[in-house]
Amino acid sequence: MKNGHISNGLHRRQAGSSGDKNEHLFKILVIGELGTGKTSIIKRYVHQFFSQHYRATIGVDFALKVVSWDANTVIRLQLWDIAGQERFGNMTRVYYKEAVGAFIVFDVTRAQTFDCVSKWKNDLDTKVTLPNGSPIPTVLLANKCDQPKEGIVNSPARMDEYCRDSGYAGWFETSAKENINIDEAAKFLVNQILSMEQNGQLASDSYDPDRFSIDSPGQGRSSPPESNCKC
Ligand code: GTP
Ligand code: MG
Repeated sequence: MKNGHISNGLHRRQAGSSGDKNEHLFKILVIGELGTGKTSIIKRYVHQFFSQHYRATIGVDFALKVVSWDANTVIRLQLWDIAGQERFGNMTRVYYKEAVGAFIVFDVTRAQTFDCVSKWKNDLDTKVTLPNGSPIPTVLLANKCDQPKEGIVNSPARMDEYCRDSGYAGWFETSAKENINIDEAAKFLVNQILSMEQNGQLASDSYDPDRFSIDSPGQGRSSPPESNCKC
């Protein structure tokens, strides 16, 4: 194996039996209020698995999804599953470091979780940027769309406007339970990141893959969260 240049998105060329392959490693954050379905979305995307049982994430958890993007490209998505309760802690600055994309998740059945989305976006944008100072590409996920919806999410036109005004790359209705739109949302975010990379916006010599190794797999209480969002 021969390693080439490492950029902020960790891009290298690997010589294999079938010829050179482009490899990318992207750190992606998954954030949003308690119980909105962040862990469930990741489990569905990475392990094709869903459980009704709720175990609150404590701190941060990790998952790796390897995507064969095309015949010449492999993309490794390092998904950082950040506990909803972390917005009230001091660790998000550490967790967000070096991320090149994010999902912000709300629960369509609880409008209060949408009300908190702007707090998460603000937290994100003030704590992490691309090397050129732009916000990292962020996609809003309206999760649990298999359930009756409450609030603005009932109007796609208003959601489009909200996302445009708030600097989201886009938004998707998703269901981790029914496996709706999760692959599509991930593909959309990766496309956004790849185009940033092609424009040279991810290039940095300061990238250190060892910073990715934090040990604190989460587990916690087994009852659903309070429906009150305390933002
Ligand atoms: P924290 O770790 O506390 O921040 O929560 P979380 O955002 O990781 O939520 P989690 O994935 O643990 O899901 C919370 C609850 O919602 C669980 O009981 C899940 O089974 C349920 N859930 C998640 N996604 C969906 C979905 O798409 N549809 C339905 N009906 N339930 C879902
Ligand atoms: Mg979780």
